[in-house]
Amino acid sequence: MPRTHDDTWDLASSVGATATMVAAGRALATKDPRKLIDDPFADPLVRAVGVDFFVKMIDGELDLSTIPNASPARVQAMIDGMAVRTKFFDDYFSDAMDTGIRQAVILASGLDARAYRLRWPAQTVVYEIDQPQVIDFKTTTLADFGAESTAQRRTVRIDLRADWPTALREAGFDAAAPTAWLAEGLLIYLPPEAQDRLFDNITALSVPGSTIATEYVPGIRDFDADRVREMSAPLREQGVDIDMASLVYAGERNHVVEYLRGNGWDASGISREELFRLHDLEVPVIEEDDDPLGEIIFVSGTLSG
Ligand SMILES: C[S@@+](CC[C@H](N)C(=O)[O-])C[C@H]1O[C@@H](n2cnc3c(N)ncnc32)[C@H](O)[C@@H]1O
Repeated sequence: MPRTHDDTWDLASSVGATATMVAAGRALATKDPRKLIDDPFADPLVRAVGVDFFVKMIDGELDLSTIPNASPARVQAMIDGMAVRTKFFDDYFSDAMDTGIRQAVILASGLDARAYRLRWPAQTVVYEIDQPQVIDFKTTTLADFGAESTAQRRTVRIDLRADWPTALREAGFDAAAPTAWLAEGLLIYLPPEAQDRLFDNITALSVPGSTIATEYVPGIRDFDADRVREMSAPLREQGVDIDMASLVYAGERNHVVEYLRGNGWDASGISREELFRLHDLEVPVIEEDDDPLGEIIFVSGTLSG
């Protein structure tokens, strides 16, 4: 179904299902013997959402022969990709807290359980922003598990295309304190102008010393929707409500690092390939034809004074 300006979802549908997909990746990366990351909540959260395909995925019970381009090597590359991504942003928060920041905002938090699993310094407040059904599901499910947050967790149930800065302030956000911002796995689901607005809003809410982290996909410019639709058809036949071709906003958009620099952020990027090398993981050889989004650049930066 095509996107609309006010579309909504839960964790089994549309953009929401992508949160379950990446949580399944974290669940598998957590089981990986190399132990680059540890997200003990990913597995039970994916089971609680209950999409059969993702449950089979974390149980290693998928019939790869029914999924296009899904060789064991590609599955391992996906798991390793989630591992380096999660580690990059876990380390980002740890470094930000080391600078004395005690306020974090996780935009598009999905099934991110950092507010329950990272060791936050005392008094740290972590805000999570996502659509209401997504926020409510995670809050209720983790409470049912008896999980306790490791920071003061405050939720903001709102669409990021609406006036989220006002909702964030109403939840107690202190714009005078430095903030560690995270927008992980979000930008491709926002139209280009909404991406710019997101960074404009973040900048307006940030004092010098605040930090930001995100990732971007240069290949979004040439994203071939028809090819992706063709590739993901077998997944939909297996009940996965993720049609990336219609979820993603393709075409020209501002370069994230340059845009942030233009807004006063001392930002830089590192490619996923470099992260694989940094963590001694085998760099996957992926044909462009098999991976329409291609390379991912992980970005972090600090707002200059
Ligand atoms: C790929 S998931 C990433 C979730 C989480 N950041 C992670 O990495 O595990 C995309 C998330 O973006 C959220 N999202 C996308 N567009 C949004 C919007 N306009 N408003 C609120 N949330 C949005 C979805 O609900 C979903 O949780």
